[in-house]
Amino acid sequence: MHTTVGIIGAGPAGLLLARLLHQEGIDSVVLEARDREYVEQRQRAGILEQVTVDALRGAGAGERMDREGIVHHGIELRFGGRSHRVDFADLASGRGVMVYAQTEMVKDLIALRLADREPLSFEAEVHKVEAEGVDADHVTVHYRHEGREQILTCDWAVGCDGFYGVTKNAIPESLRRTFERTYPYSWLGVLAAAPPVYDELIYAHSDRGFALASMRSATVSRLYLQVPNGTAPTDWPDEQIWAELDRRFALGHDPAWKLTRGPITAKSVLPMRSHVTEPMRHGRILLAGDAAHIVPPTGAKGLNLATGDVIILARALTHLKHTGSTELLDAYSETCLERVWRAEHFSYFMTTTLHTDPDQSAFDTRLQLSQLARIASSRNAAAELAQNYVGVPIPGRPPGSRTGCRHRW
Ligand code: FAD
Ligand code: PHB
Repeated sequence: MHTTVGIIGAGPAGLLLARLLHQEGIDSVVLEARDREYVEQRQRAGILEQVTVDALRGAGAGERMDREGIVHHGIELRFGGRSHRVDFADLASGRGVMVYAQTEMVKDLIALRLADREPLSFEAEVHKVEAEGVDADHVTVHYRHEGREQILTCDWAVGCDGFYGVTKNAIPESLRRTFERTYPYSWLGVLAAAPPVYDELIYAHSDRGFALASMRSATVSRLYLQVPNGTAPTDWPDEQIWAELDRRFALGHDPAWKLTRGPITAKSVLPMRSHVTEPMRHGRILLAGDAAHIVPPTGAKGLNLATGDVIILARALTHLKHTGSTELLDAYSETCLERVWRAEHFSYFMTTTLHTDPDQSAFDTRLQLSQLARIASSRNAAAELAQNYVGVPIPGRPPGSRTGCRHRW
């Protein structure tokens, strides 16, 4: 089998790329290791930046998102028992974010791909991606599907196969650079059938550690607690989770403030990591999304960086198709990495400002509280947070392009 673009992985990056290419008449094959149900149910991110929202609308995948998603124009910071709202409408030129779960975005994109009758194989695990040198004229993708070894050849192979994917191994080790930081804490994340009593997300710094209140709908809360590395979900009975959340969100001026409780329907622990692999292209092999970079989730950037990469890549492959020029593909890695490093820094900043390191001194805590107070009192400091949170625009989009940012809330 041969195709123009071989896409490894059907997460948000792989599925959106396939759709954007289809709209431009560029054929692709998507190979996904897991089954459809697993991919559609995997609980992950929940916040879409405007660039992502615009791309989904442009891709014809925005209908349900516009119906069911919830637009937010700010976040709440809680620290030292008080509360401060960061107003995006005022500080980030009217931009906002959309609460719409990654699971739903993935379901919408899979449905479109199947309706288009375009190739998408589940339970097709790629084990090797190879090209004969940087000047090779094609890439060979080896995978196992329906109990048989199979081969896909393609003009371009894009590794959208997440952090543990195999595509990055095709970049020679001598040319690959990795940058990494791990954190001495994890998140315990729960889904609860409980109406959120807050209108916007709450990011809480407390002397008991970080907590985050997010949502999936008017009846479903998504809540997170900082926990020590090595914690198992079963270490935390439901009652203890609710009690700890209430303690970390406690307000000095309103001691009666409490979350509404309900049955906890899912519980998982996620470690925190920052990671970047450079470059994101080697000849005809490209990396996009978590395959190239990971951020801790405190800045809600992971999914949005993944969609940013594939918007830039779809534009570059479309440019190649129409002009025969690899100019945008040649700039792909550098264009993405500039946005990636901004998001890496923001995610690191949010994480280290809001969490309590197990070795943290009283001095470190005072510095965190001073930084948070600065955000609460300085328009410039708040604007810096707001503009990073709603996301950095994609540079140099051709006017009127499908992947361009044309809508405003
Ligand atoms: P993925 O979503 O990881 O998709 C990669 C796909 O490739 C998967 O479907 C995988 O099965 C497939 N694959 C892997 N190897 C192969 C192979 N060899 N052959 C074929 N297919 C393969 N971000 C936030 O902003 N907020 C959050 O709350 C949040 N929570 C997260 C929780 C967890 C547990 C994880 C892992 C990530 C979380 N993220 C969060 C990050 C965000 O979900 C990711 O940034 C986003 O999923 C990236 O999309 P992607 O398509 O690049 O990668
Ligand atoms: C989520 O809703 O899952 C979510 C929201 C904001 C974050 C991380 C996760 O920073």
